[in-house]
Amino acid sequence: MVVKSSVTFLAVVALAVFSTYTPQVEAHSWADCIDWKFNNAKKQDWSDKGGKCTGYARRFPLGKKFASLDDADPNRHYQQDHKNPDSALPCSDGKAGEEPGSNETLGKPVSKAYGGKYGRMTVTTVGDTLCVRWPAKNHAVKSEHENFVRINLSKVRNGKDISQKELLKNNIAKLPFKNCMPGKNEDTRACGGCFKVPVRAAGTYLLQWRWMLNKNEYYTSCSDIQIGK
Ligand SMILES: *[C@@H]1O[C@H](CO)[C@@H](O)[C@H](O)[C@H]1NC(C)=O
Ligand SMILES: *[C@@H]1O[C@H](CO)[C@@H](O)[C@H](O)[C@H]1NC(C)=O
Repeated sequence: MVVKSSVTFLAVVALAVFSTYTPQVEAHSWADCIDWKFNNAKKQDWSDKGGKCTGYARRFPLGKKFASLDDADPNRHYQQDHKNPDSALPCSDGKAGEEPGSNETLGKPVSKAYGGKYGRMTVTTVGDTLCVRWPAKNHAVKSEHENFVRINLSKVRNGKDISQKELLKNNIAKLPFKNCMPGKNEDTRACGGCFKVPVRAAGTYLLQWRWMLNKNEYYTSCSDIQIGK
């Protein structure tokens, strides 16, 4: 009897420990917006009241609270296989990876992943500035090492996803992950960075947001951007 009850007690303690730690461990970021427009460009306020999103990642669900999509099923974030991240699928198919994310398979046609219950596609021009937003998810804290988001833009036009290896050759921006709004809630602080759209012929292109949290630990979000003349 004594043995049995102490085992039960241990099990309860273990359960309690696990349930307090889980949310922290699971918190990873994703691209919340691909084309964020500030109300005041000089202020760079990434919070909901500082601007609005006018272009989204593929099949991005509208109307959800900022920073809440790691509780969605599937998670919005997609972690590429850590053994060989540069050979992993660049965009989640809802199945692959360490942590499969939402299905970001290319739409056929491309526009199918946008509009209606999803956010609209990014429409831009060469030389235009795009500002991308993401939630901190407890990783913008001082104690954590500096890490980065890379933006890579395909050179292949009109509805073709290229491999991760090809994407690596087309880096267009390196953005500090911790560029976040001040705030006490480390999970929901809004972060972001801006870059210029490089020269491309008119068409739609795959743009990948890729965040390296630790060595070989990469999270990605994919979107299509329509570059006009
Ligand atoms: C992801 O979406 C594609 C295109 O709509 C579809 O063919 C595929 O079955 C989906 N995958 C999953 C896991 O739902
Ligand atoms: C993009 O390409 C550069 C090389 O130009 C590479 O160093 C970087 O890791 C790539 N970024 C992504 C997101 O894959």
